[in-house]
Amino acid sequence: MVDITAQEIERCAPLDGVRTASRTSGSRIGFEDVSVAYGGLTVLKSLTLTVHPGEIVALIGPSGSGKTTALRVVAGFVRPSSGRIMIGDRDVTDLAPYDRQIGMVVQNYALFPHMRVEDNVAFGLQAQGAPRDVIRQRVPECLAMVGMSAYGKRYPRELSGGQQQRVAIARALAPKPQVLLLDEPLSALDTQIRRAMIDEIAKLHHDLPDLTVLYVTHDQTEALTLANHIGIMRDGEMQAFGEAQALFRHPPTRFAAEFLGRANLLSVGGLTAAGPGEARVRFGGAELLARNPHNLPEGRDCLLCVRPHHMRFAGEGAVANALTGVVQSVQWQGDVHNITLTAEGESLRMTCVPMAVPPALGDQLRVCFDPSEVTLVPEDAPRG
Ligand SMILES: Nc1ncnc2c1ncn2[C@@H]1O[C@H](COP(=O)(O)OP(=O)(O)O)[C@@H](O)[C@H]1O
Ligand SMILES: [Mg+2]
Repeated sequence: MVDITAQEIERCAPLDGVRTASRTSGSRIGFEDVSVAYGGLTVLKSLTLTVHPGEIVALIGPSGSGKTTALRVVAGFVRPSSGRIMIGDRDVTDLAPYDRQIGMVVQNYALFPHMRVEDNVAFGLQAQGAPRDVIRQRVPECLAMVGMSAYGKRYPRELSGGQQQRVAIARALAPKPQVLLLDEPLSALDTQIRRAMIDEIAKLHHDLPDLTVLYVTHDQTEALTLANHIGIMRDGEMQAFGEAQALFRHPPTRFAAEFLGRANLLSVGGLTAAGPGEARVRFGGAELLARNPHNLPEGRDCLLCVRPHHMRFAGEGAVANALTGVVQSVQWQGDVHNITLTAEGESLRMTCVPMAVPPALGDQLRVCFDPSEVTLVPEDAPRG
């Protein structure tokens, strides 16, 4: 909710070239039971998280969930009220931002407006007292990494948003930081540029495999495309953490299922064990078979998570996991049809390839899904 500023970026420029020169090949970021409070209100609650060297971890979550605070505490802009921050094997909790060897990129670019692009990129190197010939070599190198070689003489105001963000990335990488912190770096850009930039960040990370990245976003596409692991934040707590695909396929909570990829969640009951890792549940009159990766116990009421793109038309014959619903809306979006159904009083969204003759509102539609693609999820524990 509170953005990181240009002044703060300035404060993480390393002042001491000797320490920067001792950079190891990649460094882990460790949160050890870290809490942060503002004026007595705890906004980050006992966060324990490791970002392994060379890995991208994305923190996603709604506005106000504590994502930026998590980055600020790694950068050293805010002190934890308890716990430790580690970078590599160093406890950096008490170090100033400029002693932490981090690079940072934020949503609003935070370039220095009075400096040309090349001076922005040179800033961190100059602050650490790098020799002039090192700067002369490194600045074009970094501009080339982000495809901005032709723009060194321009001022930030003469660049588009996407170009400014490329420069901000070049500026962050110029002093060869051990870790890169990205705070919603693409959320000020329009959709098409954002897609292109996701590809570029992925390529950049491929070219700099030792760089350890903590990437904050509220956009699931960015998180799923870029991150090895994803943490889902809610009200200052990490609600769920896991390998990106596993978290998407087998969300451990309702909140995780809804936040990462807008799942359909049906209230189901009467769980009975089926094959290994599978269970049967009741949904109205239907019996459904699903994955039970969280080992929910027999008899349990829970949610069945089915992604819109996993729902198919069932046809007439006997099919496993079939439901009948009534069509509530049909929307054509060029490359897909989105259909909303109600079944047993619950709403179900399905996405399918465009149809020449789509179903009409009020039609009865039989749909089904593969048991291996649907997952049982516990209801979130009551909060408060
Ligand atoms: N400097 C600050 N002073 C007081 N409260 C703050 C400050 N920075 C953030 N907060 C509060 O901490 C909570 C988490 O904020 P933040 O980490 O910015 O969330 P996010 O980045 O997920 O949107 C919010 O309730 C926000 O209002
Ligand atoms: Mg934020």
